[in-house]
Amino acid sequence: MDMMNEMDYEDRIVSTGYTPEDSDTEKSLRPVNLGEYIGQEKAKESLKIYIEAAKQRGDVLDHVLLYGPPGLGKTTLSGIIANELGVNIRVTSGPAIEKQGDLAALLTNLNDNDVLFIDEIHRLSRQVEEILYPAMEDFALDIIIGKGPSAQSIHLPIPRFTLIGATTRAGQLTTPLRDRFGVLLKLELYTVEELAEIVRRSAGILGVPIDNEGAIEIASRSRGTPRIANRLLKRVRDFAQVKYDGKITLKTATSALNTLEIDELGLDNTDRKMLETIIHAYGGGPVGLETLAATVGEEAITIEDVYEPYLMQIGYLSRTPRGRCATRLAYEHLNIPYPLQNNSSPQLSMFDSEHEQKQSTK
Ligand code: ADE
Repeated sequence: MDMMNEMDYEDRIVSTGYTPEDSDTEKSLRPVNLGEYIGQEKAKESLKIYIEAAKQRGDVLDHVLLYGPPGLGKTTLSGIIANELGVNIRVTSGPAIEKQGDLAALLTNLNDNDVLFIDEIHRLSRQVEEILYPAMEDFALDIIIGKGPSAQSIHLPIPRFTLIGATTRAGQLTTPLRDRFGVLLKLELYTVEELAEIVRRSAGILGVPIDNEGAIEIASRSRGTPRIANRLLKRVRDFAQVKYDGKITLKTATSALNTLEIDELGLDNTDRKMLETIIHAYGGGPVGLETLAATVGEEAITIEDVYEPYLMQIGYLSRTPRGRCATRLAYEHLNIPYPLQNNSSPQLSMFDSEHEQKQSTK
């Protein structure tokens, strides 16, 4: 991602990336045990069993890979896992571990059963990844010291630890690394109801009065992502405080979010631009990912990881073997007439029925 795009993207109020302002509040709003963690029922159910089993055996928890779109609480969940196990957690990220020695230092400083959390684990360098294999498998480091004939190989035992790796897509990992995780958990975008519960909980912690409809309005515009929900909550709180009586209701939430130009589905200008490009420049699709990325001026990977998951969840975009297509719902949302179909038309019926079903369950 070039600098300009990165800035544009991070400036979005609906960006799923961390912003400096998030870090403080995100910590205070963060649930600390599984009971407080809302949503991700499937992941929670499996984790409860694995954590309990490891505790009963007095053994270390298997290595866990968390994958899914950004902003869904992978770091939060890792903290919870460590807390439920009653162990310490060390938090780092793939790009922060530059040399083999950096990882060796992290690993040798752990205590038995501790958790090491590596965010963006797909960005580890090949050399670092190579010493991670024996560490994960045998709890040992195989390090070569020196060069040439005097080089020596040292086998160094390290504490038994749980690696929790986080990535936006499991497919980005090399196969040998992926195969070394015993537990693979996919995190899904949250439903509006789950996000509304998160918003009510966060409002309670922040001491902001909010009614049910206000919470649902914020939740509906949060693109299935708690990080965005909490960020919007803070912005709406400011509006409610300055322009109204401080209470978040449907009226204050709607007015604040409209002012922020976040539409009723949480789409911002970039989302709309992408859909409009597919419709106007490529007749609704199919258009290949790389072509689309070049036309809207984003990295292909950003489109795949950040924009597409939500647009697909709400049934506005479909991925087909021949490329991306805008659906009838996208046309309707953008007030663009949906073209009359003929049998060779790309965005044809096989996708429509699926999307109409999705809409009716919303
Ligand atoms: N804050 C962020 N994610 C959350 C979640 N899943 N449950 C509760 N609070 C959260």
